[in-house]
Amino acid sequence: MDREDGVLLEAIDLSVTYTAQRGALLKRTEFVHAVKGVSFQVKRGTTMGLVGESGSGKSTIGKAILRLAPMGGGSIHYDGKEISALSDSEFMPYRKRIQTIFQDPYASMNPRLTIASIVAEPLVVHAPEMSKADRKVRVADLLQKVGLPADSMNRYPHQFSGGQRQRICIARALSSNPEFIICDECVSALDVSVQAQIVNLLQDIQDELGITYLFIAHDLAVVEHICDEALVMEKGEIVEQGPTDDLYRSPQHPYTQRLLDAVPKMPTIVGAG
Ligand SMILES: Nc1ncnc2c1ncn2[C@@H]1O[C@H](COP(=O)(O)OP(=O)(O)OP(=O)(O)O)[C@@H](O)[C@H]1O
Ligand SMILES: [Mg+2]
Repeated sequence: MDREDGVLLEAIDLSVTYTAQRGALLKRTEFVHAVKGVSFQVKRGTTMGLVGESGSGKSTIGKAILRLAPMGGGSIHYDGKEISALSDSEFMPYRKRIQTIFQDPYASMNPRLTIASIVAEPLVVHAPEMSKADRKVRVADLLQKVGLPADSMNRYPHQFSGGQRQRICIARALSSNPEFIICDECVSALDVSVQAQIVNLLQDIQDELGITYLFIAHDLAVVEHICDEALVMEKGEIVEQGPTDDLYRSPQHPYTQRLLDAVPKMPTIVGAG
Protein backbone atom coordinates (compact mmCIF):
# COMPACT_ATOMS: atom_id res chain seq x y z
CA MET A 1 0.00 0.00 0.00
CA ASP A 2 1.30 3.47 -0.84
CA ARG A 3 2.62 5.50 2.04
CA GLU A 4 1.07 8.91 2.32
CA ASP A 5 4.47 10.56 2.22
CA GLY A 6 5.25 8.77 -1.06
CA VAL A 7 8.27 6.92 0.32
CA LEU A 8 9.00 3.70 -1.60
CA LEU A 9 12.32 2.70 -0.03
CA GLU A 10 13.60 3.51 3.41
CA ALA A 11 16.82 2.50 5.12
CA ILE A 12 16.95 2.95 8.88
CA ASP A 13 20.30 2.87 10.64
CA LEU A 14 21.64 0.42 8.04
CA SER A 15 25.05 -1.11 8.71
CA VAL A 16 27.04 -3.57 6.63
CA THR A 17 30.20 -5.28 7.81
CA TYR A 18 32.20 -7.57 5.56
CA THR A 19 34.56 -10.14 6.98
CA ALA A 20 37.71 -10.80 5.02
CA GLN A 21 40.49 -13.32 5.59
CA ARG A 22 43.91 -11.71 5.44
CA GLY A 23 47.43 -13.07 5.61
CA ALA A 24 49.02 -15.94 3.69
CA LEU A 25 50.18 -18.09 6.59
CA LEU A 26 48.70 -16.72 9.77
CA LYS A 27 45.15 -16.12 8.63
CA ARG A 28 43.28 -13.50 10.55
CA THR A 29 39.77 -12.20 10.14
CA GLU A 30 39.41 -8.54 9.32
CA PHE A 31 36.19 -6.61 9.57
CA VAL A 32 35.38 -3.96 7.00
CA HIS A 33 32.67 -1.60 8.21
CA ALA A 34 31.53 -0.61 4.73
CA VAL A 35 28.27 1.08 5.79
CA LYS A 36 27.88 2.54 9.25
CA GLY A 37 24.35 3.27 10.34
CA VAL A 38 22.89 5.18 7.39
CA SER A 39 19.29 6.32 7.13
CA PHE A 40 17.55 7.68 4.06
CA GLN A 41 14.27 7.64 2.17
CA VAL A 42 13.58 7.44 -1.55
CA LYS A 43 10.25 8.74 -2.79
CA ARG A 44 8.32 6.91 -5.46
CA GLY A 45 8.92 8.14 -9.01
CA THR A 46 12.01 10.16 -8.06
CA THR A 47 15.73 9.70 -8.54
CA MET A 48 18.00 9.58 -5.51
CA GLY A 49 21.69 10.10 -6.18
CA LEU A 50 24.33 8.32 -4.13
CA VAL A 51 27.74 9.91 -4.49
CA GLY A 52 31.10 9.57 -2.81
CA GLU A 53 34.67 8.53 -3.38
CA SER A 54 35.67 5.01 -4.33
CA GLY A 55 35.24 2.67 -1.37
CA SER A 56 32.80 4.94 0.47
CA GLY A 57 30.14 2.20 0.51
CA LYS A 58 27.83 3.18 -2.37
CA SER A 59 27.61 -0.21 -4.09
CA THR A 60 27.32 -1.89 -0.70
CA ILE A 61 24.08 0.00 -0.06
CA GLY A 62 22.73 -1.18 -3.42
CA LYS A 63 23.76 -4.73 -2.58
CA ALA A 64 22.24 -4.57 0.90
CA ILE A 65 18.87 -3.62 -0.61
CA LEU A 66 19.07 -6.77 -2.75
CA ARG A 67 20.42 -8.85 0.14
CA LEU A 68 23.73 -9.37 -1.56
CA ALA A 69 25.71 -7.86 1.30
CA PRO A 70 25.86 -9.00 4.93
CA MET A 71 23.62 -6.69 6.96
CA GLY A 72 25.10 -5.94 10.34
CA GLY A 73 22.23 -3.87 11.71
CA GLY A 74 19.29 -1.64 10.98
CA SER A 75 16.47 -2.31 8.54
CA ILE A 76 15.34 -1.75 4.97
CA HIS A 77 11.70 -1.06 4.19
CA TYR A 78 10.18 -1.27 0.72
CA ASP A 79 6.65 -0.25 -0.09
CA GLY A 80 5.76 -0.37 3.59
CA LYS A 81 7.30 -3.81 4.25
CA GLU A 82 10.47 -4.53 6.18
CA ILE A 83 12.18 -6.48 3.40
CA SER A 84 15.35 -7.01 5.43
CA ALA A 85 13.33 -9.19 7.81
CA LEU A 86 11.87 -11.49 5.14
CA SER A 87 12.92 -15.04 4.44
CA ASP A 88 14.56 -15.74 1.06
CA SER A 89 11.32 -17.10 -0.38
CA GLU A 90 9.31 -14.16 0.96
CA PHE A 91 11.85 -11.84 -0.64
CA MET A 92 11.50 -13.48 -4.08
CA PRO A 93 8.73 -11.13 -5.36
CA TYR A 94 10.96 -8.16 -4.53
CA ARG A 95 13.65 -9.47 -6.88
CA LYS A 96 11.13 -8.84 -9.63
CA ARG A 97 10.23 -5.37 -8.37
CA ILE A 98 13.80 -4.18 -7.77
CA GLN A 99 16.27 -4.43 -10.64
CA THR A 100 19.88 -3.33 -11.14
CA ILE A 101 21.93 -1.89 -13.98
CA PHE A 102 25.71 -2.06 -13.60
CA GLN A 103 28.66 -0.16 -14.97
CA ASP A 104 29.91 -2.88 -17.27
CA PRO A 105 27.05 -4.23 -19.37
CA TYR A 106 29.33 -6.68 -21.18
CA ALA A 107 30.31 -8.40 -17.94
CA SER A 108 26.68 -8.99 -17.02
CA MET A 109 25.77 -10.61 -20.34
CA ASN A 110 26.41 -14.14 -21.51
CA PRO A 111 28.22 -13.51 -24.84
CA ARG A 112 26.76 -16.70 -26.31
CA LEU A 113 23.15 -15.63 -25.85
CA THR A 114 21.19 -13.57 -28.35
CA ILE A 115 19.86 -10.19 -27.28
CA ALA A 116 16.34 -11.68 -27.24
CA SER A 117 17.43 -14.28 -24.67
CA ILE A 118 19.34 -11.74 -22.59
CA VAL A 119 16.45 -9.27 -22.40
CA ALA A 120 14.03 -12.11 -21.61
CA GLU A 121 16.14 -13.49 -18.72
CA PRO A 122 14.04 -11.89 -15.93
CA LEU A 123 10.83 -12.99 -17.71
CA VAL A 124 11.93 -16.60 -17.69
CA VAL A 125 12.48 -16.36 -13.92
CA HIS A 126 9.58 -14.14 -12.90
CA ALA A 127 6.93 -14.92 -15.52
CA PRO A 128 7.53 -18.56 -16.45
CA GLU A 129 3.91 -18.92 -17.53
CA MET A 130 4.43 -16.48 -20.43
CA SER A 131 4.38 -18.16 -23.85
CA LYS A 132 7.39 -17.92 -26.14
CA ALA A 133 5.41 -15.83 -28.61
CA ASP A 134 4.28 -13.38 -25.94
CA ARG A 135 7.83 -13.14 -24.65
CA LYS A 136 9.03 -12.25 -28.14
CA VAL A 137 6.43 -9.49 -28.42
CA ARG A 138 7.48 -8.16 -25.02
CA VAL A 139 11.18 -8.17 -25.97
CA ALA A 140 10.44 -6.35 -29.24
CA ASP A 141 8.47 -3.74 -27.32
CA LEU A 142 11.29 -3.27 -24.81
CA LEU A 143 13.94 -2.93 -27.52
CA GLN A 144 11.85 -0.25 -29.14
CA LYS A 145 11.46 1.51 -25.79
CA VAL A 146 15.23 1.70 -25.32
CA GLY A 147 15.84 2.85 -28.89
CA LEU A 148 17.28 -0.30 -30.46
CA PRO A 149 16.23 -1.68 -33.86
CA ALA A 150 13.96 -4.73 -33.83
CA ASP A 151 16.55 -6.84 -35.65
CA SER A 152 18.82 -6.54 -32.57
CA MET A 153 16.95 -9.54 -31.20
CA ASN A 154 18.87 -12.16 -33.09
CA ARG A 155 22.26 -10.57 -32.68
CA TYR A 156 24.93 -11.02 -30.00
CA PRO A 157 26.40 -8.61 -27.41
CA HIS A 158 29.75 -8.17 -29.22
CA GLN A 159 27.94 -6.71 -32.22
CA PHE A 160 26.93 -3.63 -30.19
CA SER A 161 28.69 -0.54 -28.89
CA GLY A 162 29.03 0.21 -25.17
CA GLY A 163 26.07 2.59 -25.20
CA GLN A 164 23.91 0.10 -27.10
CA ARG A 165 24.86 -2.65 -24.65
CA GLN A 166 23.76 -0.43 -21.78
CA ARG A 167 20.43 0.02 -23.60
CA ILE A 168 20.14 -3.78 -23.75
CA CYS A 169 20.72 -3.93 -19.97
CA ILE A 170 18.06 -1.29 -19.43
CA ALA A 171 15.62 -3.33 -21.56
CA ARG A 172 16.48 -6.43 -19.51
CA ALA A 173 15.99 -4.55 -16.25
CA LEU A 174 12.60 -3.29 -17.46
CA SER A 175 11.35 -6.65 -18.66
CA SER A 176 9.96 -7.75 -15.29
CA ASN A 177 8.09 -4.45 -14.91
CA PRO A 178 10.09 -3.24 -11.89
CA GLU A 179 9.22 -0.16 -9.83
CA PHE A 180 12.72 0.46 -8.56
CA ILE A 181 16.04 0.32 -10.42
CA ILE A 182 19.45 0.60 -8.80
CA CYS A 183 21.76 2.16 -11.38
CA ASP A 184 25.27 1.41 -10.10
CA GLU A 185 27.70 3.62 -12.06
CA CYS A 186 25.68 2.67 -15.14
CA VAL A 187 27.00 5.50 -17.31
CA SER A 188 30.48 5.85 -15.78
CA ALA A 189 32.30 3.87 -18.47
CA LEU A 190 30.65 5.69 -21.40
CA ASP A 191 31.77 8.72 -23.40
CA VAL A 192 30.17 11.97 -22.29
CA SER A 193 27.86 12.24 -25.32
CA VAL A 194 26.72 8.63 -24.91
CA GLN A 195 26.28 9.22 -21.16
CA ALA A 196 23.89 12.03 -21.96
CA GLN A 197 21.85 9.81 -24.27
CA ILE A 198 21.55 7.06 -21.66
CA VAL A 199 20.71 9.54 -18.89
CA ASN A 200 18.01 11.05 -21.09
CA LEU A 201 16.68 7.59 -21.88
CA LEU A 202 16.46 6.79 -18.15
CA GLN A 203 14.55 10.00 -17.61
CA ASP A 204 12.15 9.32 -20.48
CA ILE A 205 11.50 5.87 -19.02
CA GLN A 206 10.86 7.42 -15.61
CA ASP A 207 8.43 9.92 -17.11
CA GLU A 208 6.57 7.15 -18.91
CA LEU A 209 6.61 4.39 -16.29
CA GLY A 210 7.07 6.26 -13.02
CA ILE A 211 10.14 4.21 -12.10
CA THR A 212 12.14 5.12 -9.01
CA TYR A 213 15.94 5.16 -9.33
CA LEU A 214 18.80 4.92 -6.89
CA PHE A 215 21.53 6.44 -9.03
CA ILE A 216 25.02 5.59 -7.80
CA ALA A 217 27.79 7.68 -9.34
CA HIS A 218 30.99 9.49 -8.64
CA ASP A 219 30.42 11.88 -11.55
CA LEU A 220 28.62 14.78 -9.94
CA ALA A 221 27.74 16.46 -13.23
CA VAL A 222 25.57 13.48 -14.18
CA VAL A 223 24.03 13.33 -10.72
CA GLU A 224 23.14 17.00 -10.84
CA HIS A 225 21.37 16.45 -14.13
CA ILE A 226 19.31 13.38 -13.30
CA CYS A 227 18.76 13.34 -9.53
CA ASP A 228 16.04 15.06 -7.51
CA GLU A 229 17.90 14.45 -4.27
CA ALA A 230 21.31 13.11 -3.38
CA LEU A 231 23.12 11.38 -0.54
CA VAL A 232 26.81 12.12 -0.07
CA MET A 233 28.80 9.24 1.40
CA GLU A 234 32.17 9.31 3.04
CA LYS A 235 33.77 6.23 4.60
CA GLY A 236 30.49 4.40 5.09
CA GLU A 237 28.53 7.34 6.43
CA ILE A 238 26.11 9.80 4.89
CA VAL A 239 27.65 13.19 5.57
CA GLU A 240 25.07 15.25 3.71
CA GLN A 241 21.74 14.75 1.99
CA GLY A 242 19.12 16.91 0.39
CA PRO A 243 17.67 18.23 -2.86
CA THR A 244 20.37 18.15 -5.56
CA ASP A 245 20.00 21.85 -6.33
CA ASP A 246 20.72 22.79 -2.70
CA LEU A 247 23.70 20.47 -2.45
CA TYR A 248 25.24 22.01 -5.53
CA ARG A 249 24.42 25.59 -4.69
CA SER A 250 25.43 25.53 -1.06
CA PRO A 251 27.16 22.35 0.09
CA GLN A 252 27.24 22.26 3.89
CA HIS A 253 29.85 19.60 4.45
CA PRO A 254 33.52 20.14 3.48
CA TYR A 255 33.60 16.68 1.89
CA THR A 256 30.73 17.61 -0.46
CA GLN A 257 32.54 20.83 -1.25
CA ARG A 258 35.69 18.85 -2.05
CA LEU A 259 33.81 16.47 -4.33
CA LEU A 260 32.28 19.42 -6.15
CA ASP A 261 35.60 21.20 -6.50
CA ALA A 262 37.22 18.08 -7.94
CA VAL A 263 34.79 17.67 -10.82
CA PRO A 264 34.46 20.24 -13.59
CA LYS A 265 30.90 21.02 -14.64
CA MET A 266 29.98 19.51 -17.98
CA PRO A 267 27.40 21.67 -19.71
CA THR A 268 27.25 19.19 -22.63
CA ILE A 269 25.10 16.89 -20.47
CA VAL A 270 22.25 19.38 -20.36
CA GLY A 271 19.90 19.06 -23.29
CA ALA A 272 22.16 16.66 -25.19
CA GLY A 273 20.82 13.57 -26.97
N1 LIG B 1 32.89 -8.56 -0.63
C1 LIG B 1 33.65 -7.72 0.11
N2 LIG B 1 34.45 -8.21 1.09
C2 LIG B 1 35.20 -7.39 1.85
N3 LIG B 1 35.21 -6.04 1.71
C3 LIG B 1 34.44 -5.50 0.75
C4 LIG B 1 33.62 -6.31 -0.11
N4 LIG B 1 32.97 -5.50 -0.98
C5 LIG B 1 33.34 -4.24 -0.68
N5 LIG B 1 34.22 -4.23 0.34
C6 LIG B 1 34.83 -3.05 0.97
O1 LIG B 1 33.78 -2.24 1.46
C7 LIG B 1 34.06 -0.86 1.25
C8 LIG B 1 32.95 -0.22 0.43
O2 LIG B 1 32.94 -0.81 -0.86
P1 LIG B 1 31.90 -0.39 -2.00
O3 LIG B 1 32.14 -1.31 -3.14
O4 LIG B 1 30.55 -0.35 -1.42
O5 LIG B 1 32.37 1.09 -2.34
P2 LIG B 1 31.90 2.06 -3.53
O6 LIG B 1 31.57 3.37 -2.90
O7 LIG B 1 30.86 1.40 -4.34
O8 LIG B 1 33.25 2.22 -4.35
P3 LIG B 1 33.48 2.40 -5.96
O9 LIG B 1 33.18 3.83 -6.27
O10 LIG B 1 34.91 2.05 -6.14
O11 LIG B 1 32.55 1.46 -6.66
C9 LIG B 1 35.43 -0.80 0.60
O12 LIG B 1 36.38 -0.62 1.60
C10 LIG B 1 35.57 -2.17 -0.02
O13 LIG B 1 36.94 -2.55 -0.11
MG1 LIG C 1 30.78 0.80 -6.36
